[in-house]
Amino acid sequence: MAPVSRLSGRTLAALLPDLRTLPGPVYSALGDAVTALVLDGRIATETRLPSERELAVALQVSRATVTAAYDALRGDGFLASRTGSGSFVTVPAGSVPRPSLSRWTMAGAGPADVIDLSCAALPAPPGLLEVAVAAAARSITPHTVDDGYAPAGLPALRAAVAERFTARGVATGPDQVLITNGALHGWDLLLRLLVGPGDRVLTELPTYPGALDAIRGNGARVVPVPMAAGGGWQVDQLQATLRQTSPRLAYLTPDFHNPTGALIPESDRRDVLRVARQTGTTVVVDESFVNLGFCPPERATAAIDSSVISIGSLSKPIWGGLRIGWLRASVDLVHRLAALRAGIDMAGPVLDQLVATELFGKLDEITAARLSELRPQRDALVAALARELPEWQVAVPQGGLSLWAELDAPLSTPLTLLAAQAGVIVVPGSRFGVDGTLERFLRLPFSLPAPRLDDAVRRLAGVWAGIDRAGIGTRQLVVA
Ligand SMILES: Cc1ncc(COP(=O)(O)O)c(C=O)c1O
Repeated sequence: MAPVSRLSGRTLAALLPDLRTLPGPVYSALGDAVTALVLDGRIATETRLPSERELAVALQVSRATVTAAYDALRGDGFLASRTGSGSFVTVPAGSVPRPSLSRWTMAGAGPADVIDLSCAALPAPPGLLEVAVAAAARSITPHTVDDGYAPAGLPALRAAVAERFTARGVATGPDQVLITNGALHGWDLLLRLLVGPGDRVLTELPTYPGALDAIRGNGARVVPVPMAAGGGWQVDQLQATLRQTSPRLAYLTPDFHNPTGALIPESDRRDVLRVARQTGTTVVVDESFVNLGFCPPERATAAIDSSVISIGSLSKPIWGGLRIGWLRASVDLVHRLAALRAGIDMAGPVLDQLVATELFGKLDEITAARLSELRPQRDALVAALARELPEWQVAVPQGGLSLWAELDAPLSTPLTLLAAQAGVIVVPGSRFGVDGTLERFLRLPFSLPAPRLDDAVRRLAGVWAGIDRAGIGTRQLVVA
């Protein structure tokens, strides 16, 4: 397989610690440091490393040192070389992303008092759905006079979504909106229409696992670009990867990213969109969490570049059980997507769309109430982690429903397995990436009341204190 993007000697040198301060010979410190960057998802697999000579110059070490480090990486299965295409990063055979230990695998197992932190999602606000469903039932009669199939969605809901985009500075007509069964449905439809087998789709690393599954399910190739260590985009790496790989699509979550909760500044969005235009890459932004920010929102991405496709849904601000989402694109694309969708599931349910139309007008009020509950929950989770697990590093999320904790050892999967026995269901970091990397990270949603989060963190700390760290070596870091 050809490498998909390239790191220059200078860029790799900037990612590495000062090798001379590390124990042992410099070549082995270099090999270990590159291995750690790969396993932490800071260098994506299939990235081409700089030539030995280029890296030696950048690090001011001898070429023999870099040759020895690359040989060691090759021996450990972290580097593969092809004549003519250089050396590219890989992971040892048998490394796979861990599946989610989510509710459907846990029936009947573990202690009775289970704290489920496997999903960054909330229950519906009490009483709200009941009122909206009653109002929708009263208004359904006029819709029953025809066949009820509207592949692009109910006109009233399309208009409500369009109005909201327009109010955010993205002039939108109702015919630019497709109503979907959730944001993930919109993403899958786009993949079905726009990518073919083997096409490249750029994503952030980490990213929402459902988006990765949909890319792979459509036979496309994920081109992951690591996020910055403290959160946010690495704009230069995104630009370089766009230029080097010209992906067909880019899937980005700049508004309270899952799992990190990061909000990307307008200038970074602008810089990435400019290069995506040059490389002919269609940018899709997932705005699932856009309403759940603890700080003022950034300008809508489609207001910066109207060719950006936006997907969103009521799942995160209101309730996932509604299965109502949308997609904003050109009139022509919406038309093609509606035709495609008609051949898959005909159309969305009318009653549910009427319920969503009722709720849409109250979205700001609903999200304001949500945020006033979520902020103390986020603060309680951050405080509990600082108290119980001070060795973990946690960037305080600016929004969304989760934080991304950096553990002090690459044991996320063993932790989640043991935590399940202690009654805490969490998903390992590797589920948010590709090839089994990100084992040093754990996604923790703050979607439960503060006392439950406190309890969960206490249990996690108990498990972490007893976890067997013996034998963490280069090969054992990848969990097969
Ligand atoms: C970023 C992101 N997009 C989409 C989804 C799925 O949303 P929906 O329920 O609207 O399909 C999720 C769910 O966690 C998500 O985190």
